[in-house]
Amino acid sequence: MRVIVGITGASGSIYAVSLLRALFNHGIEIYGVCSSIGKEVMQTECGVGLSDFPFVNWNAADDMSAPIASGASCADSMVIVPCSMNTLSCVASGISNNLLQRAAAVMLKESRKLIIVPRETPLSIIQIESMLKLANAGAIILPTMPGFYKNPQSIQDIVNFIVEKILTQIM
Ligand SMILES: Cc1cc2nc3c(=O)[nH]c(=O)nc-3n(C[C@H](O)[C@H](O)[C@H](O)COP(=O)(O)O)c2cc1C
Repeated sequence: MRVIVGITGASGSIYAVSLLRALFNHGIEIYGVCSSIGKEVMQTECGVGLSDFPFVNWNAADDMSAPIASGASCADSMVIVPCSMNTLSCVASGISNNLLQRAAAVMLKESRKLIIVPRETPLSIIQIESMLKLANAGAIILPTMPGFYKNPQSIQDIVNFIVEKILTQIM
């Protein structure tokens, strides 16, 4: 199984970091692309960089000739986590300003699974309409809305709740 993980500059890099480790532990082939602000936020929030994940096939966000920019590459699924409102709006509008957005557009046009994990609050009507557009186009909108009925004891427990929801969609 091949999965693309797109990481944007929304808060919540810990979701991406935890998902990458979980995918690796499941033996899944991972292709990664991270926006420039995504790298900054990951360093700020988690104190790690892309080189801390050598098991990921990283693609530069400006590399439009990377295989994941083409429908011929066809990963099984793509997760954008955390997904900024900027990237969400671009993908909903069919805009491909960088490799991450292009890879998402490819998943939609090829009818492959695209899981979007938005992080923002409160939400404007524009953002809600963008989510509706994406859901109508076949994407799965999986917001960072952890449940608390499992009595989480740590931040990692809360994060794992969402990571497990993502894994359930991928598998
Ligand atoms: C520390 C930090 C936290 C941010 N958190 C969010 C957020 O939670 N959601 C969001 O939509 N944008 C957030 N932003 C703004 C995005 O990074 C900004 O809109 C950026 O243009 C997103 O670019 P990208 O979609 O290419 O990653 C944050 C920015 C910074 C610096």
